[in-house]
Amino acid sequence: MTVITNVEDLRVIAKKRVPRMFYDYADSGSWTESTYRANESDFQKIKLRQRILINMEHRSTVTKMIGQPVAMPVAIAPTGMTGMQHADGEILGAQAAKAFGIPFTLSTMSICSIEDVSKHTGGHPFWFQLYVMKDRDFIERLIDRAKAANCSALVLTLDLQILGQRHKDLKNGLSAPPKLTLANLINIATKPRWAMGMLGTPRRQFGNIVGHVKGVTDMSRLSEWTSSQFDPALNWGDVEWIKKRWGGKLILKGIQDPEDARMALNSGADALIVSNHGGRQLDGANSSIQSLPGIVDAVGKQIEIHMDGGVRSGQDVLKARALGAQGCYIGRPFLYALGAMGGPGVTKVLEILHKELDLTMAFCGHTDIETVDKSILLPGTYPT
Ligand code: GLV
Repeated sequence: MTVITNVEDLRVIAKKRVPRMFYDYADSGSWTESTYRANESDFQKIKLRQRILINMEHRSTVTKMIGQPVAMPVAIAPTGMTGMQHADGEILGAQAAKAFGIPFTLSTMSICSIEDVSKHTGGHPFWFQLYVMKDRDFIERLIDRAKAANCSALVLTLDLQILGQRHKDLKNGLSAPPKLTLANLINIATKPRWAMGMLGTPRRQFGNIVGHVKGVTDMSRLSEWTSSQFDPALNWGDVEWIKKRWGGKLILKGIQDPEDARMALNSGADALIVSNHGGRQLDGANSSIQSLPGIVDAVGKQIEIHMDGGVRSGQDVLKARALGAQGCYIGRPFLYALGAMGGPGVTKVLEILHKELDLTMAFCGHTDIETVDKSILLPGTYPT
């Protein structure tokens, strides 16, 4: 048995254990995947400054995101079809996040429903990510369901009203549940752990949607569902009514441009997420870590800023924090961990990130995450 010491170890195991169509769904970007790759590689270019002989005792990574205490500045990102990486994936993820003391964000396109996740986490607050569909009745009910489940933030995604093309999903015929074609059956036969888990759970469809939307017969294919149901006319006016209907903390996700960041600020949201959707939407766009400083410059004093995209280690978390992100989100590291080992895998990845963050912070001469700023980075190596 391999000793698991980093996120890459978990990715390798997940690739072996998760059926190809779901592993590929997680581990791909749109078109040439240049933005997907840049999200990670641009983090690597940033260099840290080592400091020595500074008392390293009593370290703390505790901070707040949207005013809520977090054990480290990391939240679990909303990811579609999580319950297809591992049976009951969203429930397992939410439970691990709760135990660790960080936020879990449930996707609209989850397999386990809002109510199911709430029930299995003892009503502990989690965050809910909203996609806006043309059927506004359904959206209003979805917002109300998130409120009823005690969700403590609404994360409104603004960069996926249309879907960027991911070649592998089309080639694999991605759907939930998977269609039982010969190719899929052969592939699933090599993933007995996954299959046993799936046979043992009733949760195999989009739990927030099936049974809640009128006239929907087959929504198993994410790409077809998105193009027929998501509202491509979504605009800033809609953000206003959503904010009003929700009435709680609102986080706007998918900001890449300072101009849009100013609009987000004017909308009265509590935070914005600098994100290119993990390189899954506009391929050729800037990496998230490159986009971060410009947005911090434009609005960082007036609104809390988060980021996602390319975070694969505690070093990355520290770099994002140094560049002005109050916190960041992990999508793929979470999915790899879940696919590799289920709930204990998620706990493992949080421990890995925490340890990397804690030690790196100390090497840079800090004992408290709250004191970390740009001065821990080597001038000339980070984006401005
Ligand atoms: C959905 O959010 C996706 O990126 O597939």
